[in-house]
Amino acid sequence: MEFKKRILCIGAGYVGGPTMAVIALKCPEYRVDVVDINQERINAWNSDDLPIFEPGLLEIVKERRGKNLFFSTNTEENITKADIIFVSVNTPTKTFGEGAGMASDLQYWEATAHQIVKHAQSDKIIVEKSTLPVRTAEAMERILKMHSGNIKFEVISNPEFLSEGTAIKDLLEADRVLIGAHDTKEGNSASQEITDIYRHWIPEERIITTNLWSSELSKLIANAFLAQRISSINSISALCEKTDADISEIAHAIGSDSRIGNKFLQTSVGFGGSCFKKDILNLVYIAKSYGLYEVADYWESVVTMNEYQKSRFVRKIIKEMFNTVAGKKITLFGFAFKANTGDTRESPAIDITKALLDENVRVTIHDPKAIENAKIDLKGIDGNITYETDPYKAAANSNALVIATEWDQFKDLDYSQIYKSMEKPAFIFDGRNLLDHKKLFGIGFNVYPTGKQQLTHFS
Ligand code: NAD
Ligand code: UGA
Repeated sequence: MEFKKRILCIGAGYVGGPTMAVIALKCPEYRVDVVDINQERINAWNSDDLPIFEPGLLEIVKERRGKNLFFSTNTEENITKADIIFVSVNTPTKTFGEGAGMASDLQYWEATAHQIVKHAQSDKIIVEKSTLPVRTAEAMERILKMHSGNIKFEVISNPEFLSEGTAIKDLLEADRVLIGAHDTKEGNSASQEITDIYRHWIPEERIITTNLWSSELSKLIANAFLAQRISSINSISALCEKTDADISEIAHAIGSDSRIGNKFLQTSVGFGGSCFKKDILNLVYIAKSYGLYEVADYWESVVTMNEYQKSRFVRKIIKEMFNTVAGKKITLFGFAFKANTGDTRESPAIDITKALLDENVRVTIHDPKAIENAKIDLKGIDGNITYETDPYKAAANSNALVIATEWDQFKDLDYSQIYKSMEKPAFIFDGRNLLDHKKLFGIGFNVYPTGKQQLTHFS
């Protein structure tokens, strides 16, 4: 079949895979190739056991794979043939040298720019899909200008706002699509080409076009604002535990103000995920690099509060279990950074587990999707850790349960049966306020919600 255009996506990860699957679904006249340096990942994309779990993804991949959606490691040939190249490689926090622990590590992104220079033989639109520091496109343009031929590259920013676990829904029903371009004839025309792709399913009024730098920076700011809301509500959860105010009632009361809104006000054991912390630290680094130290401090406090919430939670467990947790069995229900994903990157459960192991606790981990990733995260860490796929076996003989991820299925377990199988006194620390606390208390548990009054049988 003759295709109207060829799209290439470099990076077949959480963003590249689902985003390109949806483009292939909605734009059958475009050929979409997704490449990666990781052969194992590509093999998985070509199987029915996809490398990531997202509701609805497998169905779309199966429908388009081999028709206009192709996964391979053949980067060079695909660069040569592509009209539009999305770059969706990982941009983690730098772990070495200047900016270590704060700045973005752009080595993977830069490697793709050099690959494009090396293999391009015709004009191309390069789309920044990865989350990048503001003004990265400038560096991309400099590298692309190294091309010896008379080839034109137009760099566009099109950051991705999908959330894991709802990636397909977020892509199909995006609140907005953001496209940043230079305000030049070439920039506007490239911006139009990318708009044309999204117009296949996104209403025109939801496609926002801006200048390049606004687009790059908007992505970091969107994540910073979302994380800031979580740190704000979590900070108040600590105050609630001291005053007997109830964090859910407060979230409802303030969220009913349409200026505040009711989303992202769920208190938790802390936010996780691959991006919030890294993007905020990147924002902090950028602000510092421009000498804006007060701006940097303001945003850094969002991360500081998140670290506090995690360590406060562990301190509560230790204190409430009579300051003697060594040798006790504590079972984590949930290890993923949020429900409906197997992803454990920056999951609060990692820090909780490590802190409990430091106290010589025997830790058992149960998660519906994340056990394999948990094993990787905790590899080489000293301590007594077991993994259990059956929640009832996981809980048996435990002194305490910790709800670390808000999986729906945890709500439907038979807690009377679980209570009977546990050591007494039996504790539940609900880091997500997921369960019915009064009911658990009635069964006999000592219940420690987050940001709410504790329900205990101790006098
Ligand atoms: P990921 O680690 O899941 O995927 C990135 C992929 O790029 C990896 O499979 C890696 O092997 C591949 N890669 C690296 N260098 C390559 C190269 N030179 N050629 C081919 N492949 C290469 O990362 P992700 O979660 O998909 O994130 C990608 C970007 O999108 C990041 O900048 C991230 O901040 C951003 N983002 C992520 C999410 C999310 O929910 N995960 C959401 C929005 C934006
Ligand atoms: C987040 C953003 O929501 C996406 O828009 C963005 O594209 C993405 O980061 C990214 O750039 O990577 P994601 O990390 O997948 O998406 O998941 P979220 O739903 O935002 O949750 C992040 C963390 O915050 C989770 O640990 C979650 O449990 C926690 N959270 C979320 C709360 O503690 N309370 C809330 O009210 C909401």
